[in-house]
Amino acid sequence: MTTTAPDGTPLRELLALAERTAREAGALIHDGRPRRVEVAATKSSPTDVVTAMDTASEALVLQRLTAARPQDGFLGEESGHRPGRSGLTWVVDPIDGTVNYLYGIRAYAVSVALVADGGARPPGAGAGPPDPALPPDPARWQPLVGCVHDPAGGETWTATLGGGAHLGGHPLHVTEGVELAGALVATGFGYDAARRAEQAAVVARLLPRVRDLRRIGTASLDLCAVAAGRVDAYYERGLKPWDFAAAVLVATEAGAVVTDFAGGRAGEHGLLAAGGRLHPVLREALES
Ligand code: IPD
Ligand code: CA
Repeated sequence: MTTTAPDGTPLRELLALAERTAREAGALIHDGRPRRVEVAATKSSPTDVVTAMDTASEALVLQRLTAARPQDGFLGEESGHRPGRSGLTWVVDPIDGTVNYLYGIRAYAVSVALVADGGARPPGAGAGPPDPALPPDPARWQPLVGCVHDPAGGETWTATLGGGAHLGGHPLHVTEGVELAGALVATGFGYDAARRAEQAAVVARLLPRVRDLRRIGTASLDLCAVAAGRVDAYYERGLKPWDFAAAVLVATEAGAVVTDFAGGRAGEHGLLAAGGRLHPVLREALES
């Protein structure tokens, strides 16, 4: 079992920092949610919104993490990448499920992960050493600790590499032995209209073959739901690194198999999480 990060810090200490910070940001966005949340700006498309609370939450998380560990890098949805010098980077979504937050739907979360190495290589550098100036690469990084805090639901999901996944101190396990026809499958949709058209076509083919589909609206909580057996599987294309960094560790530590749709490393191009028996069957259904 891995008990320390490459710099010698115990993973339990790093998880405690991630959890404390995610809880504090969760209290900020939950207790400070105005009755009417305004859209502060749009990002990749008119449906991809940011509120003042996304920015405030990320500023708080950045401040707390850099105060505690100034040597680490930081990658946040709202403020981007700050290189570090420890080979470790905090990957943060200050509000996952911003559209739910905007509408007052109580499924949103703060996601905080610490990942090792996985720095991107400069173009043409092949397998050379990572460039610390570039953000860490989910195709190569190793999440060490992850915390997904759901302030409205009062649930905090945690995991450390090799140390299992927990919800409120209880160990988590995915569902096993589920057939495709009996599977409750969560998914999500990106903000790009062309991608949504493709995603709708996949849903049209899959829905008649499974128990049912769920679109909760928060990728990190979807993955935690897989970890807890609240759904049997989750898939999505087009996620960003901060959407899944912490929750993939929670899901894998709970026994989920997590890959892309071709069985390779999961990432923006595709992510599928399910128990060992359902995973290959669902993967085939999604590939076809
Ligand atoms: C989004 C949510 C949503 C998923 C989208 C994500 P955001 O994150 O996780 O469930 O379907 O792909 O972008 O924008 O609310 O942080
Ligand atoms: Ca977000």
